[in-house]
Amino acid sequence: MSLSFLATTTPITNTTVTNPNLNQRSLKPPTSIAPNLIRKRYSSASCSQKQQEGGVDRRDVLVGLGGLCGAATVLPNVATGVPVQPPDLSACHLADDDQLADGVQCCPPYGSSPVVITDFKLPDASEPLRVRQSTQALAGDKKNLEKFMEAIKLMRELPADDPWNFMQQAQIHCAYCNGAYSQVGFPSVSLQLHGSWLFPPWHRYYIYFWEKILGKLIGDDTLAIPYWNYDQPEGMRFPEIYNKNFPRNPLYNCNRNSEHVTGALMSYRYEIGDPNPTPAEEADVILANQKQLHDMYAENLFTPANFMGQPILAGQTLNGPGVLETLHNTPHKWCGLTEKPRWDMGNFHTAARDTIFFGHHAEVDRLWSIYKDQRGTNKPEFETPDWLEASFIFYDENKNIVNCKVKDCLDPSALRYTYQKEEKTWLNIRRTYFKKKKAKPRSASAEELVAVEKFGSSPRLLDTTIRALVTRPQVSRSKDDKEEESEVIFIDDFTFNETDSAGFDVYITKPTEGLVTADLGEFAGAFVHIPHGHGGQGHKNVLRLGITYLLEDIEAEGSEQLVVSLVPRSGDVTIAGISIQLVPRQEI
Ligand code: C2O
Repeated sequence: MSLSFLATTTPITNTTVTNPNLNQRSLKPPTSIAPNLIRKRYSSASCSQKQQEGGVDRRDVLVGLGGLCGAATVLPNVATGVPVQPPDLSACHLADDDQLADGVQCCPPYGSSPVVITDFKLPDASEPLRVRQSTQALAGDKKNLEKFMEAIKLMRELPADDPWNFMQQAQIHCAYCNGAYSQVGFPSVSLQLHGSWLFPPWHRYYIYFWEKILGKLIGDDTLAIPYWNYDQPEGMRFPEIYNKNFPRNPLYNCNRNSEHVTGALMSYRYEIGDPNPTPAEEADVILANQKQLHDMYAENLFTPANFMGQPILAGQTLNGPGVLETLHNTPHKWCGLTEKPRWDMGNFHTAARDTIFFGHHAEVDRLWSIYKDQRGTNKPEFETPDWLEASFIFYDENKNIVNCKVKDCLDPSALRYTYQKEEKTWLNIRRTYFKKKKAKPRSASAEELVAVEKFGSSPRLLDTTIRALVTRPQVSRSKDDKEEESEVIFIDDFTFNETDSAGFDVYITKPTEGLVTADLGEFAGAFVHIPHGHGGQGHKNVLRLGITYLLEDIEAEGSEQLVVSLVPRSGDVTIAGISIQLVPRQEI
C-alpha cells in the first residue's frame, strides 16, 4: 500500500463544507420526541427537586443524576458532511512555532515507503484492565512508580529516530497541532486537533498509545500512566513525583516554572505573571476552582458541543474549544515558562516534551470520562458520523501504523483501562461557595451604581474590561423550558494574535434599570489560548458558556437583560459581539 493511500481512497472534493452544527441555533429542537418521554424526563428532574426538599441542592443533584434520565433517545437532526480525515503521511511538512522565524521539523519517522496503514482494533477483552492512579497514589506505590519511571527512562534511551523515542512521541503532538499536515483534499487547511470536538478523542488515543508503548518497553501490560488529579484540593499543586530527586528522575524537566513546581497552589484562573496565592487566599482559590468544575458539568451536561468542543468537518477550520479544553489550557500555562517562547508546556509545539503533559492529559481524559458518567448513558456525546467516523493515525505498541476512528475510543474499558475511584469534592460545592461569598463584607464603593450600554455593532478591542448590556431571548423561563433549552452566552468571531498567549474572563450580573455596581458578578467562564498557529485562513474563534443555573444563583431569571463583563487577561483580543441564545438540549 503506498503512502498516498489516504489521499486516493478518500472521496473528498475541494469544496466548502457547511456544517449546520456550527451554529447551534440551527439545531432543531427535539420535536420528534414523544410527549410522554419528555414528561418522563422532566419527572426525573423533579425527583431531584424532591431531594432538594430533603436538604440536597437541586443543581448539585443535577450534576449527578444522569442515570435517572435515560429515557429519550432521539437526537436533533444533524446533517452529515465529511468527517475529518487522517493525514497523508507522505505530505508532512515543516510545522510552525510562530515565535520562531523558521518552521520546525515534527514529522514522525514512520519509515520509508511503502507504509502500510491498518485499521485500529480494540484490545482483546481478556487483556488486563490497567488502572490509572492519581500521581499522589502512585507516589505511595513504590513498585508501580519504579515501573513507570523505568519505562520512561527506556523510552528516552531509544535511538533518536525510533518512533517510540520520547522526543519522537512528543513530536506527534507538534505535527498534529502546529500545522505539519494539511487536511487531505484541502491543501490550505491544516489538520488541527485543538479547538473542536476532536480534542477529547485525539488526546485519548495519543496517551493510550504512549501508555501501551511504555508497557511494551518494560514487558508489562498492566502498566498504567498516572493522572494529575487537580480536580481534588490536594492535587491542585504540581505533583512531586515529577520533580524530586533531580537529576536522576526521568520525569524531571527543567523547562518548568520554578515558582510553581515546589508546592504552589494552582488557580484555574491563573494567567502568566500572576503571583502565587498567599496562604490567606488559598481556601478561596480552592473553592473557586471547585465551583468552576461544578459549573463545567452542571451547565453543559446536555450541550456536549459546549463541553467537548464545537463540531468541525473536513476542510473547515474553527477554534471553538469546549469548556474542558479551555480549563485544560490553564495548567499548560501554569507549568510552562513565563518567558517566550514558553517552552515546554506553555507552547503546543513543545508541550509533550514534558512528562507532566501526560499526567495532565490523563486527568483531562478522566474529566471526560466523568462527563460520560454524569450523563449516565452509553450513548456517544455526538451520534453523527461527522464525529464518530473522524479518524487519526498513530504508531501503535506493535510498531504498526494504525488508523483510529473516534467511535472506537469512546469506552475506556473497551480500551482496557480505567481510573481509580476518587471522591468528586466539587459535586456539592455550590452551597458552600455561595454561603462563603455572602458572608464576605462588601466595600461601600462597590455599591455605587454605574450605567452600562449595549455592546454596539462595531468590534471592540478588549484592552480594558468591557461591560455590555445583553438582552435575553426569553425571560422567567420555567423549569420545563430549561429542560428543553439551555441558556448560553455566545461570544463569536473574536480575534487575537495566536502566536502568543491570549485570554479573557467572562462574568455576569443583573442590572437594575440599566445600572450596575462595580462588582462584576459571577464568573461564567473564560477563554484561554496557548500559543500555536491554529491553521487555515481566517477561521472563526467562538466561545459558548452555559448560564442556565448561574442565572438562578444570581436571581436573574426575571431580568430581561444581563450585564456581561469581559475582563482582559492576556493578548490583544478584539471582540465582535456578545449575545445570549437558547440552545436545544440533546436528549440522553
Ligand atoms: Cu494537545 Cu494539552 O494539548
